[in-house]
Amino acid sequence: AEISNGAKIFEANCASCHIGGGNILISQKTLKKEALSKYLENYNSDSIEAIIHQVQNGKNAMPAFKSKLTSEEILEVAAYVFQNAEQGW
Ligand code: HEM
Repeated sequence: AEISNGAKIFEANCASCHIGGGNILISQKTLKKEALSKYLENYNSDSIEAIIHQVQNGKNAMPAFKSKLTSEEILEVAAYVFQNAEQGW
């Protein structure tokens, strides 16, 4: 199957900490639907926007990506994370 741009961006920038939708640093703060709903601010009102905000700005031990990825790339990786959260990684 063709590998999406979002998947490639995730592999290159996120998988080191979030392999398989997990979190190697803070184990409960995964990219799974239940964790995002519980821990990520505004996820329940605007999921993609909430992921974009986290990726742009980072949080605590997670680095900011706004100077590393373009806004198009951040949108693509956020959509990829949302899709996988909905599908169950
Ligand atoms: C949290 C996405 C890269 C470390 C999160 C959350 C999202 C996310 C959506 C919220 C999870 C939740 O609250 O349940 C991404 C994406 C990345 C990326 C899309 C790539 C563009 C990384 C990298 C690291 C990292 C490279 C490690 C160096 C963390 C940590 C948290 C977190 C420690 C918890 C932050 C806190 O609330 O204290 N990430 N992440 N992330 N991420 Fe990332």
